Amino acid sequence: MLRDADVLSLLLQRQPRHSLARAFYTDPGLFQVDLERIWYRDWLMTAVSAELPKTGNYVTRQIGDYSVIVVRGADGIARAFHNSCRHRGSRICSAAKGSNPKLVCPYHQWTYELDGCLLWAREMGDDFDASKHGLKPVHCEEVAGLIMICLAETPPDFAPFRAEAEAYAGPHGLKDLKIAHQSTITEQGNWKLVMENNRECYHCAGSHPSLCRTFPEDPKVFGTNPAEQAPVLRDHIAKCEAAGLPSKFSAAGDAQWRFIRIPFLGSAASYTLDGKPAVSKRVGRVPFDDAGSCLAYHYPSSWNHFLSDQGLVFRMNPISPTETEVTTTWLVHKDAVEGVDYDFQRLTEVWTHTNDEDRAIVEENQRGVNSPAYEPGPYSVQHESGVIQFVDWYASTLQERLTGRRAMMAAE
Ligand code: FES
Ligand SMILES: [Fe+2]
Repeated sequence: MLRDADVLSLLLQRQPRHSLARAFYTDPGLFQVDLERIWYRDWLMTAVSAELPKTGNYVTRQIGDYSVIVVRGADGIARAFHNSCRHRGSRICSAAKGSNPKLVCPYHQWTYELDGCLLWAREMGDDFDASKHGLKPVHCEEVAGLIMICLAETPPDFAPFRAEAEAYAGPHGLKDLKIAHQSTITEQGNWKLVMENNRECYHCAGSHPSLCRTFPEDPKVFGTNPAEQAPVLRDHIAKCEAAGLPSKFSAAGDAQWRFIRIPFLGSAASYTLDGKPAVSKRVGRVPFDDAGSCLAYHYPSSWNHFLSDQGLVFRMNPISPTETEVTTTWLVHKDAVEGVDYDFQRLTEVWTHTNDEDRAIVEENQRGVNSPAYEPGPYSVQHESGVIQFVDWYASTLQERLTGRRAMMAAE
């Protein structure tokens, strides 16, 4: 099992613009380093606001060794806590989601307020100080209908992402949408293979017949590189910006997150087989149907598509070196009625198929990488610049956290 020094040595041997060494996708020690240096340190997409519409609504999440409760308080604020009782450590909430006026530990019924304060603990003696036994908080931020958590003691600055999420996702009114469907699939593949696959469309023509009816597979149209944008993308951005929708490429300095609004193919307006909107009620303040798709990713956990008729939020969670859970949430106007304003199958079929096709691709990728004969291969600079950029972010972030110094990125 690899440890920090081994991982650093592998990072230093890394060939730029090539896939990673086998251990990055297979080794249990390296997976633990990923958890400790990336997943326990960065902001993670954890829920959409529509999962916690009312006071007392909660969801639980397992991130590596940590169990976390995310709960809506009486004051409307979403908070996150370690799901470990301050008495003897029992998990407090065992369900994936639910609703409770208080958080009550099932073991000895210590009872916590929704803001984490310990309200009641039976017969603990006169010198027991309840104020010192509140639930341990986890950093939690809610922005534009998205809820993110960070397990680090001192989280990275959330303000730059907050500002851009409000600008780009805000007009889609995500926080007022309702969940039309949510699916969770488990892919037998390392989380980095899942993200690498998401960051390119080199594979789309061969694998995604239904997605390719509306999604442009040309990277100059789906906007990976701000320096190389096709006229159709530039025109779409200009049209949407003029209508008050922030649309131009906007990314973090280290490329950990990015927003851009891209056009669909032809006159398509949504991810449907015929390209027509899936939902008759437009979301938020989007002024027209053909606003394309606002693409937003945030490493390591999420990618999203905000459309004129729906929001698609993708959240991934690493389970083991070769297992990753992907949850997709379809959000529609809160007054949209199934069977009247949208047809469930029409709304969900393209991404249900696409997710399954991506799962199969990632699993074959993992099986091939598991072979001792695998060696890192070259990415296509034309088609896989998004993958190069993700892998550079990953490698330089990990190297910085292992050494305290930021590495040069291949793209620089
Ligand atoms: S462990 Fe929670 S009340 Fe005892
Ligand atoms: Fe795909």
